[in-house]
Amino acid sequence: MRHLLSPLDFSVEELDQMFDLANDIEANPEKYQDVCRNKKIATLFYEPSTRTRLSFEAAMINLGGQVLGFSEATSSSAAKGESVADTIKIVSCYSDICAMRHPKEGSALVAARHADVPVINAGDGGHQHPTQTLTDLLTIRSLKGKLGDFTIGLCGDLKFGRTVHSLIHALLRYDNIKFLLISPEELQVPDYIIESIEEAGAEYSVATKLEDVIDQLDLLYMTRVQRERFFNEEDYVRLKDSFMLDKKKLDQAKDDMLVLHPLPRVNEISVDVDDDPRAVYFKQAQYGVYVRMALILTLLEVEV
Ligand code: NCD
Repeated sequence: MRHLLSPLDFSVEELDQMFDLANDIEANPEKYQDVCRNKKIATLFYEPSTRTRLSFEAAMINLGGQVLGFSEATSSSAAKGESVADTIKIVSCYSDICAMRHPKEGSALVAARHADVPVINAGDGGHQHPTQTLTDLLTIRSLKGKLGDFTIGLCGDLKFGRTVHSLIHALLRYDNIKFLLISPEELQVPDYIIESIEEAGAEYSVATKLEDVIDQLDLLYMTRVQRERFFNEEDYVRLKDSFMLDKKKLDQAKDDMLVLHPLPRVNEISVDVDDDPRAVYFKQAQYGVYVRMALILTLLEVEV
C-alpha cells in the first residue's frame, strides 16, 4: 500500500504518468465518472482549508465515489484528546483512502504508520504540502508544455510556506531550473532547503525586492505570509505587506511569464492583476481537482 507524504514519494516517471492521466481526465471526464463507485474518501482537516479539502471531495465525487470527514479539529474527538494514531485506525474502518491536514509537522507520517488505507498528506504544519505541488507541476506542465528549462521566482513567506518547500524539492529533480528566492530576510527559506538546492547542484539566488528580478522570470510563484505560524503578531504585522504584485510590476515581466499562487491570497496580488492572461492561479485551482482525481486512482490502483 502506498501513501503520499512527500512530493518525492513518486518517481519523475510515475508523476508523468499521473499528469498524463490528469490531462485525460480533463479532456474526457465522462470516462471516469463511475470508476470509484462504492469507494469513500475521508477528509480529516485539523486546520482551515477551502481548496484542498473541497477539491479532494470534488475529485472523489467526480469519480463516482463518496466522502466523509471533518473540517475542524474541534468537531472531532481530537478535542477530547484522541491521538492521530487512534483516529486513523478508526477512519481506516470507515473509508478506502484518507486525506489529512494537521498543524503538526510529521503528523501525516504518524497517520500513515497506523493506517490500513492510503494516507495523503494534505499539509503538515510548515513542512510539506505534496498535493499542492502536484497541482503546481501539472499547471506548469500543461501551460508551459514541459517541466524544466526555466527560471522560477518564489516570492513571499518562504520560511513557513509549506507549498514552497514541497515545490522546491520536487523541481530539483528536473533539468536546468534556476530559483530566485524573493523574501524579506526574516522569511527566507530554511537552511535545510538551501542545502538540498546546493546538493542538487541547482542554480539559485536570493533577492529582497520583486521589482529587481521580475523581468528575469518565466514563472512567478506568489505566496501569502503565513500568519498562523508566527510566534508573535507584531512580526506578522511588520512583514505582512512586504510584497505586492500589481499591474505596474507585472508590466516589467515577460509576456509569457505565468503567475501562480496556491491561494488563499490576502494582499500579495492586487485584484487588478486577475484579468491579465499571465495570471493563472484560478486555473491552477481547477488543475488541483484533475490531479487529485489522478492521485486517488493511482493510490487505489483503479484500472480504467
Ligand atoms: C496553502 C496551504 O494550506 O499551505 N493553501 C492551499 O492548500 N492551497 C497555502 C496557504 O495557506 O497560504
